[in-house]
Formats: sequence, structure tokens, C-alpha cells
Amino acid sequence: MKSLNLNTKILVYNDVEASESIKKLIKFAKNATKNAYAPYSHFQVGAAVMLTNGEIMTGSNQENAAYPSGLCAERVALFNANAQYPNTAVEVIAIAAFHDGEFTDVPCCPCGGCRQVIVEAENRFDKAIKMIMYGKSKIYEVESVKVLLPLSFGKESLSE
Ligand code: THU
Repeated sequence: MKSLNLNTKILVYNDVEASESIKKLIKFAKNATKNAYAPYSHFQVGAAVMLTNGEIMTGSNQENAAYPSGLCAERVALFNANAQYPNTAVEVIAIAAFHDGEFTDVPCCPCGGCRQVIVEAENRFDKAIKMIMYGKSKIYEVESVKVLLPLSFGKESLSE
């Protein structure tokens, strides 16, 4: 028996240390929280994706009285981008959450279902998507969703 040790590299920095393009994308994500429809959780999430053509598309969580019918901000943003630009890869996604009158202190990290959808968006164009998770106290950055979802299930899993 042997052990497989996985390395999780997460960059941690603050608003001031962020590059101009990351600051810009975070601003879009924060603004997108205003468009959330979250009357049940009161947890407003915004996501902004930057495509390789420079376009920025946003999404926010859209809830439903029948709870599972709602959708997270990340999936709204990604599906929106892929629906508008089906031949263009996503380069970066930024996520922010607003709750109890302020942006969350800790970075908002995507749920498991959204991680799976981001894996698909990476595999679809064979391009890693940089993820920026915003929090007031710190920002997390990973080079690919596979850092947060190792040993993921993807199209290659179906043909093995
Ligand atoms: N939510 C997101 O939109 N993205 C996340 O990364 C975590 C959770 C939404 C789902 C639901 O509308 C609300 O936040 C509370 O879970």
C-alpha cells in the first residue's frame, strides 16, 4: 500500500496586493451580488467570469420557493458565458458574497456542484480557470478548480 499526497496551493492576499485586472473582476463580482434573488437565504452571491476574448460576464444566485430549483451565482455566470460565447474559453472567475449588510469576511468558496461545473468548463476548452474567492479579510486564488476538486470526474472518466 502507498499513500498519494496531494498538494493544495492557495495564494492568499488582500485587496491592496491584488493586480488591477483581478481588482476589476472582483468589482464586477461584488456588483453582481446586488442582482441576487435570495429571499430565502439572504445570502447574496455574485460571480464574474473573464473570457479569453476579454469579455466579462456576471451571474448571481437565483433562489426558488422549491429550494433545489434555484441556482448558484457561479453556475449562472458560467452558463451565461458559455451560452453567449460557446466557442470562447473562460480564463478567470471571481466570487463574492454579501450577507448581513456586508461582504463576507472569509472568502466565498464555491459549493461542490459549482466546482463540478467549473471542471466541465475547464475540460471543454482544455484550459485551466483561475479562481478568485473574495473575502474582506483575505482573497484566495487557485490556478485551477482541480486544486479544490482533485481526482475529479470528467469526460475522460466516462471512457475508462
Ligand atoms: N450560493 C452560491 O450562489 N454560490 C456559492 O458559492 C455558495 C452558495 C448560494 C446558493 C443559495 O442561494 C445561497 O447561496 C445560500 O446557500
